[in-house]
Formats: sequence, structure tokens, C-alpha cells
Amino acid sequence: MRRVHRRIGASGSMLLPAAPSLLETYVEMLLAAVRPFGRYFAPDAVVRLRDILREKLDEAYTRSPYSRIHISWDTDPQPAVSISYVVSVRHSSMEAEYEEWTRERKPPLFGTHPDTKVLALAASLGKPADVRILDIGAGTGRNTLALARAGYPMAAVEGSPALCKILEKSAKDEGLDVELFGGNALDRSLPIPSGRYQLVILCEVVYHLRTLLALRELFERCAEVLAPGGLLCFSAFVADGGFTPDRLTRELAEVFWSTIQTRAELRSVMEGLPFSPVSDESVYGYEKEHLPAEAWPPTGWFADWTRGRDAFDVPEGTAPIELRWLVYKRSS
Ligand SMILES: C[S@@+](CC[C@H](N)C(=O)[O-])C[C@H]1O[C@@H](n2cnc3c(N)ncnc32)[C@H](O)[C@@H]1O
Repeated sequence: MRRVHRRIGASGSMLLPAAPSLLETYVEMLLAAVRPFGRYFAPDAVVRLRDILREKLDEAYTRSPYSRIHISWDTDPQPAVSISYVVSVRHSSMEAEYEEWTRERKPPLFGTHPDTKVLALAASLGKPADVRILDIGAGTGRNTLALARAGYPMAAVEGSPALCKILEKSAKDEGLDVELFGGNALDRSLPIPSGRYQLVILCEVVYHLRTLLALRELFERCAEVLAPGGLLCFSAFVADGGFTPDRLTRELAEVFWSTIQTRAELRSVMEGLPFSPVSDESVYGYEKEHLPAEAWPPTGWFADWTRGRDAFDVPEGTAPIELRWLVYKRSS
């Protein structure tokens, strides 16, 4: 029996999320995958595997949490009892992921109805014609188009070329006047006019920003483009007061499209900016209460995702994060 494995050929592959904190888990997975075939890694080979994997994980995660690590392995021909393996990065990006959504998912990608929180805020600011709105990360225009139909002068920023094209075409087909800025909202060369808007919205967008510095830059831009007294409304995955996410949790939350901000982090990002907090509500709770019954749920993933259950596989209502509607007023 001790010799049988020399006559066994085996191969396999793994596609793994790019979470650097899972390094040891992934090393163990590969060792365990080849063990049934009598193949073992010598201690120095384990060290080499760990070094290669660490480097690839860091490279992949730095680029995007949607990248993956691909490991393929093969038993070496007899009489060797070793294996050969290749570790490579399958790079992805937010833009590439959304491009795939447009190819593989049935529209509407983000729901049929606009966010009721956004409709209520817009209505609170006056007659539609007097309320200029900027929708940052507008996607295919779920909010932009509905607000434009209701008579609000609309502008939109969208960073995914594939979604931007859909939004542009929909606006054109309906004859809606939407000023569209295609590109990254952090890009200073986008010619978004300063002091122009009464309302800036960022719906299901902030979780795409990976650092507090990026978030700060985004909110600085929002402060610039808002008119004095205007409102900023965004949704973000906020951690419960008593919950401090560790590194692994943060990385996996990103992998599951649920990047976490703690309240202390949000306070630090807002510090010194001309904003005062107005409201802080559960997105799930608010939208479930106000959306028409036929528009609920907005998408198949909305209920779990907004309540933090994509990142935390726990019973309903017990995840330590949830998507919140946060509204701030720009000081005059
Ligand atoms: C989940 S979709 C939400 C779309 C839309 N806001 C809605 O609620 O229907 C997130 C959108 O934000 C866009 N986005 C994320 N980060 C961005 C950035 N830095 N600049 C411009 N668009 C961004 C993405 O391309 C995507 O269209």
C-alpha cells in the first residue's frame, strides 16, 4: 500500500478570493488536497509555497478585492512523490465586474424603483425644477432616470463604462435631460460644477471605496459641488457600536461587496468638513416600510446584503453590520 500512490496520477485547481488574511488557510487547503494521493510538501517547500502565495495574495488584493488566486497542481510522474503547482492572479476590477453583470444578469440590475429615501429628501427640498441633484455612482440610472422624469434637473457620475452606456442610452431614448459625467468621481478632471447641487446622492456606492482617504476625498468633492444648505445622502455598511472588525473581517467584507466603516471612522472622515449630521437609518427598514409592495424586494440580493448577511453568514437580524442611510447637511 505504501507504494500505491506512486502509481496514482492526480491534478486539481482552486480559485480563491484575494483575502491576504487567508494565507494560512489556503496553504493548508493545498496541503490537504494532495495528501490523499500520498503527496507531501517538505518543510522548505511549504515555506516556498507560503512566500509565493503571500506575494500573489497581496498583489491581487491591492488591485481589487474582486480578484482571485488560481492554484493548479499536478502530481509529478513516478517515481517522484512530489507535486508541481502554479499560482497565478486572476485580476478583476469594479469596472470588469459590472461589465460582466451587464452580460450575465437580467436587467434591471439594481431594482425597478428609485430609493424612497432619496425621493423623500428631494421632495423636502422644494419644487422639482428648483432642486438640482447629482447622483454619484448612478449605475444604470435607477434613481437618476426616475428623478429626471419627476422634473428634477439631474446630473450623474458613473465609473463603469458599461453601465454609463446603458444610462446614457436610456436617458436619450426617453428624451430626458441628464448631464452625464463618465469616470471616477475622485477624478479631479471631471468638470462637475462647484456649489451647484441641492442634493448629492451616493446610493450603494460607498462600499466600493477602499480607504478612508478615498472616502475623505469623495466627501470633500461632495462639499464642493453642493450648494450651501444642500444635503448629502449616502448608504454605507456601518458596524454596530460594540463591534470592531479585525483585518480578516474587513478583507472578507470587501470580497462580499460590503466594505465596513465604523462610526468612529465616519466621524474622522467627516471631521473638519462643512457637514452636520441629519439622520441615520437602516436602509432595509426604511425601504421596506416605504417602497410599494410590488417593488419589494428591490432585487434578489437586497434583503440579505443590506442587513450584512452577505458578509456574515448568521441568522437574520444578527449581523454586526448593516447598510445605513446617512444624511448630512452642508453648512451655509
Ligand atoms: C451597486 S451600484 C449602484 C448604482 C445606483 N447608485 C443604484 O443605486 O441603482 C454601484 C455603482 O457605483 C459606481 N461607482 C463606484 N465607485 C465609483 C466611483 N469612484 N466613481 C464613479 N462611480 C462609482 C459603480 O460603477 C456602480 O455603478
